[in-house]
Amino acid sequence: MKLDGAVSVVIGGANGIGKSYCESLLEKKCRVLLADIQTEVGQQTSEMLASRYGHDQVTFRKCNGVCEVDIRETLLEAKLRWGRLDIVINHVGILDEGNWKEVMDINIGSAILTAKVTEEILGKNNGGPGGVMVLTASAAAVLPFPLMPIYSTSKAAVVHYVRSLMHPLHYSRHGIRMMTICPSITKTNFINVANDRDKIGVMYEKAKELLKMKEATNSWIQPKWVGDLLIHMLENDEELAGTAGVLNSKTPKYYYKPRGKL
Ligand SMILES: NC(=O)c1ccc[n+]([C@@H]2O[C@H](COP(=O)([O-])OP(=O)(O)OC[C@H]3O[C@@H](n4cnc5c(N)ncnc54)[C@H](O)[C@@H]3O)[C@@H](O)[C@H]2O)c1
Repeated sequence: MKLDGAVSVVIGGANGIGKSYCESLLEKKCRVLLADIQTEVGQQTSEMLASRYGHDQVTFRKCNGVCEVDIRETLLEAKLRWGRLDIVINHVGILDEGNWKEVMDINIGSAILTAKVTEEILGKNNGGPGGVMVLTASAAAVLPFPLMPIYSTSKAAVVHYVRSLMHPLHYSRHGIRMMTICPSITKTNFINVANDRDKIGVMYEKAKELLKMKEATNSWIQPKWVGDLLIHMLENDEELAGTAGVLNSKTPKYYYKPRGKL
């Protein structure tokens, strides 16, 4: 798709990978509604980006990415402000092996609600123009990750859900090109969870070892690389719709193919 002049919403855009998504989109002259549950840091990030890319290019709105009403109002605000909406990104997710219900609720719930509202607003079946939806999953979604089985399973469900919705039976209805982005361990605030024994559970020591090794070898994924992958996938959305773009330090980019016909 052509990004110059397109309109996007990034939910979870204030920090880390989400912030990198916003920067990468703005670099391509795409307009961005940066939405986040944290008002202060969201506003700061949005203002910083506005001073760099233009005040008409980016704005902030508070949004809880697991609340259907918030997601709907956020998407409608972007459409109202710029007269169109092309790209919906939800980047929200948590890691807490001690609280499986919340992990499932948030990680899968945000995916389902985002797809539902995106279809309602952009779906061709609802008189919309179609568009693109991108969800952040994880490299732990495409291979089992025994250090975090609950998180890994929740993110696998996100990938599976999107691939199912991209089956011709669904795509022929809604016309929205959907994909997931699956980074490996990325240097953001998110990895601080590893210091919380309750949130990692029985694999706490192993997880600490892994992060120590990442630090010693400086083998983190950088948020900028994930932003670059987003742009690559958006610019090749016809070909890559339904895929999961996996990014890890050993194999910089590869694609998980969509399922075939039933
Ligand atoms: N960092 C990693 O190693 C890594 C790897 C793979 C996938 N991910 C995924 O990336 C996401 C975490 O992002 P990050 O690593 O950039 O961390 P981060 O903490 O730097 O950023 C997360 C952003 O999401 C916002 N957020 C959290 N809950 C929200 C909600 N309910 N509604 C709206 N905004 C919300 C936060 O305020 C923050 O701005 C998760 O979905 C995680 O599964 C992270």
